[in-house]
Amino acid sequence: MSSQPIRALDPKYYTDSAFFEKERQTLLASTWQYASHVSQIPNSGDYFRLEIAGESLFCVRGKKGEIRTFYNVCQHRGHEIVTHESGNTRMLVCPYHSWSYDLGGRLRNGPNLDAVEGLDKGSICLPQVRTDEFCGFIFVNLDPDAKSMDEVFPGVREELREFVPHIDELAPLEYVAIEEDCNWKVSVENYSECYHCSANHHTFVDGIIKPETYRISHVGYTLQHTTECQNLDRMSYPVDPESNPRATQYKSWFLWPGFSFQVYPGNVLNTYHWRPMAVDKVMVYRGWYTIGGEESDVIRGLAEQDRDTTVAEDVRLVESVQRGLKSRGYQGGPLVVDPTGGVMSEHSIVALNNWVREAIDA
Ligand code: FES
Ligand SMILES: [Fe+2]
Repeated sequence: MSSQPIRALDPKYYTDSAFFEKERQTLLASTWQYASHVSQIPNSGDYFRLEIAGESLFCVRGKKGEIRTFYNVCQHRGHEIVTHESGNTRMLVCPYHSWSYDLGGRLRNGPNLDAVEGLDKGSICLPQVRTDEFCGFIFVNLDPDAKSMDEVFPGVREELREFVPHIDELAPLEYVAIEEDCNWKVSVENYSECYHCSANHHTFVDGIIKPETYRISHVGYTLQHTTECQNLDRMSYPVDPESNPRATQYKSWFLWPGFSFQVYPGNVLNTYHWRPMAVDKVMVYRGWYTIGGEESDVIRGLAEQDRDTTVAEDVRLVESVQRGLKSRGYQGGPLVVDPTGGVMSEHSIVALNNWVREAIDA
């Protein structure tokens, strides 16, 4: 019996708003989502607001430096507590009737509360959301029973430190938002295969990586891309091969479902973050990091080159795919899965599609 090729997901997974709503309730509410970098809240009382899976949340740094995330909802009558995008405060005070909570989320006081018989102030707390700091990057998960990041993304923390020994000292040099008119999965799938690279990304293929060494593997819920850097005389920016044992390698760790660490040759850390906005809209954030966020001509130039080439090229591809997915003339085609792997294979798409089905059907 001959086996059949594995097919791409049904187009409705990318175009149906009811399906997107289901994803928000299931997939996006049970996976680790990127919130921000620790450098955004260096001091006790610093906070910022964020929205995950349609829920308003905020992260705040406590008195002892610990980072907590709370649902942004007062336990009195439901007003939002934090109304600014970011700031610093000693107490979290609800604007509606001035109930105040400490940085640990415990109710401290409120007007006339002592008049309420039987009210146990100590039992009232803002509900917390699971939070993990991953090498300086803050992630949250709405599912209290979710497995830890180290279980879901085994070994990544350690390996990342090997590639970027100075990771704890980094801060963003730039963090740029790119709006894409497509479903978030179209963008993530495009990111996760390099079958399209040679036809579309000339700068990346000729001036950064060596395509014949490109490999994609999956470990836990990560997709890891590895390749050697291009011959040094062809590199589009200077790399000192002696500076670090990993200096001539490229590696990325995509953390399902919406974040990726990338280390460009020269141990340059940069990130991708996808935030699904609607069934056909995703915000992609591209971050580039230096020690303390200090200016660097080389990294600034590399970030600009990346935006003008790889990122711009990908925006055109994913938006065209989204239009195609809405066509009556498309049903979901066969994927090119090469049993030997390599750059011309889409086995990583199979993994992504399985993770989607698994989360939705759970
Ligand atoms: S709703 Fe917050 S104090 Fe009343
Ligand atoms: Fe691409």
